[in-house]
Amino acid sequence: MWQALVEAVEDRSAKGIALALSAGIDRGVLRPGERLPPIRRVARDLQVAPATISAAWSQLARAGLIETDGRRGTRVREASVGPRRYRRALDSRAGYRVDLSTGLPDPRLLPDLHAAMRRVRRDETQHSYLEEPVVPALREVLEASWPHPVEALTVVDGAMDAHSQFVAAHLRFGDRVAVEQPCFPPLLDLLEMAGTVPIGVRYDAEGPVVADVVSALDAGAKVLFFQPWGQNPSGRSLSLARAGELATVLAGRDSVIVEDDSAGGAPSGPQISLGALLPDRIVLVRSFSKTHGPDLRLAAIGGPASVVAPIVERRYLGQGWSSRLVQSILLELLTDPHSREQVTRAQATYAVRTAALASALADRGVCVPGRDGINLWVPVADQGAALLHLAAAGVRAASGDPFWISAPDSDHIRITTSSIDADDEPGLAALADLVADAARAGTWAGHR
Ligand SMILES: Cc1ncc(COP(=O)(O)O)c(C=O)c1O
Repeated sequence: MWQALVEAVEDRSAKGIALALSAGIDRGVLRPGERLPPIRRVARDLQVAPATISAAWSQLARAGLIETDGRRGTRVREASVGPRRYRRALDSRAGYRVDLSTGLPDPRLLPDLHAAMRRVRRDETQHSYLEEPVVPALREVLEASWPHPVEALTVVDGAMDAHSQFVAAHLRFGDRVAVEQPCFPPLLDLLEMAGTVPIGVRYDAEGPVVADVVSALDAGAKVLFFQPWGQNPSGRSLSLARAGELATVLAGRDSVIVEDDSAGGAPSGPQISLGALLPDRIVLVRSFSKTHGPDLRLAAIGGPASVVAPIVERRYLGQGWSSRLVQSILLELLTDPHSREQVTRAQATYAVRTAALASALADRGVCVPGRDGINLWVPVADQGAALLHLAAAGVRAASGDPFWISAPDSDHIRITTSSIDADDEPGLAALADLVADAARAGTWAGHR
């Protein structure tokens, strides 16, 4: 079995070896708890220097796939499934003066839920099991605001619920799926838990890289997951030109594309989607958590009936529908002029805050890939050192590792900008100084 793994290593760089091992772990060739042979033996089998194996092992350890246990050697980590990336994001939040790790909106900029609750009319709340799962007036508003005419649409309990329902209805153990890299960690946890095999697709300045999408499809990917706007964590967005190129290469295939929109249909930039180009294959998941409130737990899924209907049907045997009372609150928020204005203003404020920190970092020699949305993806020399440097000043950021399928070849941290004060010039400068120093902390290897 070890021999089969050795033979599966095509690229004998540290990264290539780490990727081959991680694929072995993903496919269950290497089982949780299984011990890896000593570094010298692996180096001999692969005919590389022991230092290359050490580097591969440390990449795998950083991704949480293996662990070294003193003299007892290195083994595949137990519990390699479950919300491990998600849990890491929740761990040890106490003791920080400023938490920039959350990926959450600024609560002060969310529309007033209590006012909306008071406006919900009594007769709008249903007291029956037999009504439509989606409040009809909300359906109309959602369909009218959808970026393209949509065959089927339903409302579920947030975007992660949408992904979870989609995976349960349409993916099976061993299915290959293309996922943007880096990407939202709980989606990776979910795909891993379902036993699918994620294939990474780079996301460059214009969106998912066409060549990567093609090779993922050639490798059998049934689905492509990506975020068209304000990609979390990179802050990048899909361009119109890239949307056209992707539509061309996707046109002759039968894979489904899931677009994950966290901006509730109200991005501060243009709303670009592949939907108008490939209406029979695009599923758009639109979350209202960041724009209208995470505790509404509402998202809409729209797309071809062949994709959405099985989700609605299956849900009848579970939750059935998302609370119509809460749907009515969302309807209020989406139609009330004051609430709409609050959402638009919030998006504009986020744009200013994100751009302010990104520019201040650029002035200090730290360039981030994108500026859309509420996160900055900051390249750092050493992730651990960067997080420690920030922690020493009482500031928490998110570690970059959980955003990758397997060990990344460069280090990043994610900084959420939603709540920073862009008008406080000295405060902003101090934060940018701190983040820029953190980016350079640790073993200096230049900016990667
Ligand atoms: C890209 C992306 N997808 C999905 C989600 C989950 O959204 P929801 O709160 O609607 O489950 C988030 C939340 O941060 C996200 O950033």
